[in-house]
Amino acid sequence: MNYSIISSSRNVLVIPCYAQDKEIKFFSTENSDLKTQIKKVLPLFAFKAEKKEQLSLLIGTQKVLLIGIVEKYTLEDLRVAYGLALKTLRKAKEFTQAFEFVSQDDQCVQAIVEALDLAEYSYDMYKKEKNPVLKLEFLTTQNKKQIIDTTLLVTKQVKFVRNIINENADVITPQKFEEFVLAFAKKYTLKTNILNEKEIAKQKLGLLSAVGQAAKHPARLIICEYNGNSKSKNTIALVGKGITFDSGGLNLKTGDGMLTMRGDMGGAAVVFGAFQSAVELKLPVNLILVLACAENAISHHAYKQGDTLVSYNGTTVEITNTDAEGRLVLADAISYLQKQYKPTQIIDLATLTGACTVAVGSCLIATMSNNQDLFTKLFMAGEKTYERLWQLPIYDEHRDLIKSDIGEIRNTGKVREAGTIVGGAFIEYFVEKGLPWAHLDIASVDFSDKEDAYIAKGATGKGVRLLVDYLKSL
Ligand code: BES
Ligand code: ZN
Ligand code: ZN
Repeated sequence: MNYSIISSSRNVLVIPCYAQDKEIKFFSTENSDLKTQIKKVLPLFAFKAEKKEQLSLLIGTQKVLLIGIVEKYTLEDLRVAYGLALKTLRKAKEFTQAFEFVSQDDQCVQAIVEALDLAEYSYDMYKKEKNPVLKLEFLTTQNKKQIIDTTLLVTKQVKFVRNIINENADVITPQKFEEFVLAFAKKYTLKTNILNEKEIAKQKLGLLSAVGQAAKHPARLIICEYNGNSKSKNTIALVGKGITFDSGGLNLKTGDGMLTMRGDMGGAAVVFGAFQSAVELKLPVNLILVLACAENAISHHAYKQGDTLVSYNGTTVEITNTDAEGRLVLADAISYLQKQYKPTQIIDLATLTGACTVAVGSCLIATMSNNQDLFTKLFMAGEKTYERLWQLPIYDEHRDLIKSDIGEIRNTGKVREAGTIVGGAFIEYFVEKGLPWAHLDIASVDFSDKEDAYIAKGATGKGVRLLVDYLKSL
């Protein structure tokens, strides 16, 4: 984002306001002469300063956009109002936009800046007409520069995550993830451990190996460590499902079902984005990033329905459906992680089940956890960032659904029965007893088919701000 901090406005000035007893009030006391003039002309318009309402005015030579927000706003009210304002002005080809802030409180500044930076985004890689570059001016003081810049550091990652989810599956391959992580690790001198397809097979990660074996782009298990707190014995593992394309395998998906499956690496993208943010923010936490990357392709090499595979920790897994591949790669990644790195907490993110949207809708992340304290902290971060989550339980009756007649467990349950929970129960099977773990099924929020105030159609990047907020809260 191209921004500057100014004290007197030029170009279009965005002024937030609200209604109180049918009178329109302004949040900020700046530009008082201008506001006196605005007050004079307001009776000519039907503008009531309601939520999401906007009014364009020309006062002398000053262009103004009034935006309605409720007096007792939430952070999300701010994101929506400012995101919409930026889009209205961009549509009107106003590329230099100045914003009054409702308040100079850090949380408000953060919400406003994140919405503006994210609203600017739309995926234009394959468009001849590129997004115009905007010049934004913030009516705030220089001492807000730090909060603005740390906010932009995270939104930069959200946009990076959106870009790689939106990009072609033949571009964002497991090797590409390897390149990204190696480049980042080099920049910040972080330790990495990357298993290529041969090492994955040699070290007997049988599930990850099987899922990746049909693809031209072979699998990778990618691990990177960040030690931001030498005083703490705690290490949080962020594990992501990185299926760079999910055809379904021999249990081939339908055309509709496959359309967005280049985004099936969303979990890996999001945890990578959050990890990079944490490192750049120098958060005082110890992290292990684990990306389980493979392409679930279809060829004569493909793994087969009905086969029983042996996982890294020795569990035998009957493949009842080759399209339930995410849980397989995660199971091996988590087993390897626990054995080799002994983390004290695991958070995994995955576009795991289509059933997730059926269960909680496209506004929520379905979450399963064996630890209420961990869940509650994630839940609070979700409320704050508006990347909200809702908890689903895992009961023994659900665990029974993955019992296998041939092996120890099978990779799917009963058709149309608690699909999302069964996915969680499968992963839980591989998590060591007592180790705090949360599984976030982001299949419901990974892609959006509608444009929102600060989220374009396509990849949303949801989960990055959530995880960063969670890590900051520790
Ligand atoms: N990647 C899909 C889940 C998915 C579906 C993500 C729609 C985003 C949007 C996953 O690998 C999958 O195919 N899951 C199956 C599981 C089933 C075979 C038990 C599903 O949801 O149908
Ligand atoms: Zn699948
Ligand atoms: Zn998948």
